[in-house]
Amino acid sequence: MAVERTLVILKPDAVQRGLSGEIIRRLENRGLKIIGLDMRTIDREVAARHYGEHEGKPFYAGLIDYITSGPVVLMVLEGPNAVSVTRSTMGKTNPVDAAPGTIRGDLGLMTGRNLIHGSDAPESAEREVALFFGDRSLPTWQRDSDRWVLE
Ligand code: RTP
Ligand code: MG
Repeated sequence: MAVERTLVILKPDAVQRGLSGEIIRRLENRGLKIIGLDMRTIDREVAARHYGEHEGKPFYAGLIDYITSGPVVLMVLEGPNAVSVTRSTMGKTNPVDAAPGTIRGDLGLMTGRNLIHGSDAPESAEREVALFFGDRSLPTWQRDSDRWVLE
């Protein structure tokens, strides 16, 4: 069992639609542990570093406009296979293809308003956690309910 960390962003549409609590609830209920939480508006320079892999693609300019358009909620989640567990709880990038029961499949309709970001690999998670939370130490804490979630 690989205990991983992953970086989640509740994108500006999630915050504006009042869905932050709903989305956090789903990830917490899954069993993932919150070890970092913050609200801020991402500036364009940080957005460009975060989404650097997409530079030059047709949707890149719109993506940077979208992610910097208002406050977001940033989270670091920890748990066994946290990266893939978070991605499967989010659902596919295009909400049209996202399965019912997933965050995007239940709450979204369009790729450019798909509510949530989750790191796509442990290496990306490490880079993204450093990008957004690098200036602070994250708490290590024992969650009493873990013995009923983890074997
Ligand atoms: P994210 O990075 O935000 O978690 O999303 P993802 O891995 O599921 O998808 P990715 O391919 O990394 O794309 C990043 C974000 O760019 C927007 N996008 N628009 N119009 C398009 O074809 C298109 N493709 C991607 C989405 O907001 C996507 O989440
Ligand atoms: Mg991605």
